[in-house]
Amino acid sequence: MTVAAADDRTMTDAQRRDPRAAKGLRLRIGSNGFEERGGRTMPWGLQNRLARIIRPSDGHTVMLAADHGYFLGPTSKLEIPRKTLEPLLPFADAVMVTRGVVRTSIDPGANVPIVLRVSGGASVLNEDLSNEKVTTSMKEAVRLNASAVALSIFVGATHEHDSLVNLGKLVDEGEEVGIPVLAVTAVGKELEKRDARYLGLACRIAAEFGAHFVKTYFCDDFSKVVESCPVPLVVAGGPKLETELDALELAYEAIQEGAHGVDMGRNIWQSSNPVGMIRGIRSIVHERATPKEALDLVKGAKPKK
Ligand code: 5RP
Repeated sequence: MTVAAADDRTMTDAQRRDPRAAKGLRLRIGSNGFEERGGRTMPWGLQNRLARIIRPSDGHTVMLAADHGYFLGPTSKLEIPRKTLEPLLPFADAVMVTRGVVRTSIDPGANVPIVLRVSGGASVLNEDLSNEKVTTSMKEAVRLNASAVALSIFVGATHEHDSLVNLGKLVDEGEEVGIPVLAVTAVGKELEKRDARYLGLACRIAAEFGAHFVKTYFCDDFSKVVESCPVPLVVAGGPKLETELDALELAYEAIQEGAHGVDMGRNIWQSSNPVGMIRGIRSIVHERATPKEALDLVKGAKPKK
């Protein structure tokens, strides 16, 4: 028996259907993908916190992004964070928020892992959004029992240098206390930057600086971005798409091309049916539903008045 055949016998049906298998990105049973993507070298605490976010059973995650207020203020449909978040948290594997929202709008007893946004410093009123510093300390992340911290990098922008140095320092601090770092490849107002060449460059730099996982945008040829980034990737949804099906298709294609999950905000909570949307996204990410199957689930879940 060849090694490949023996290996195949240890796979579940879900893993056999995993498109990553064909790309050499196959997950092992009981792995959350970090084993294959740098995880073996991580200390126990880091692995444990990452496993709270990316499910070891299937290597995927549905993160709910709701940190937009840190530069956009009261974003539409996120004006009252508690009201937006409460019905969605039971369906999220993790929620990405600032400390202000954690303290005011999420009950300490809610059993949801926190990915704490710790960078900021420029608002939407400023033409250049890249001038960020670390605004929340690692001690505060520990106090808030964060499962990870998140910081934006602005590759190619005016403050590229500062944002990358911030990332390196944050990784050093995170590793001291066992808190993983999510690097966000931010594009500021230049949404047209979202192509495989740029995102591949930004994601790879984030990984080289030690980010434990990276959040980026979906794009054409996304599998190239995945292949050249040695740590797990999650995709943002970006501005609200025209239809729910468009957002479901984005999530589906991202998973097909090797993303470990989504970190989606506006396309969930700006939908007319946010609970239906997050359930639909979950079915794609964790149950391999097609966009059409997920849309049926969205339509079947009644929007809350
Ligand atoms: C901002 C962020 C947001 O969390 C991000 O854009 C994800 O949310 P959305 O799905 O609404 O794009 O990291 O830099």
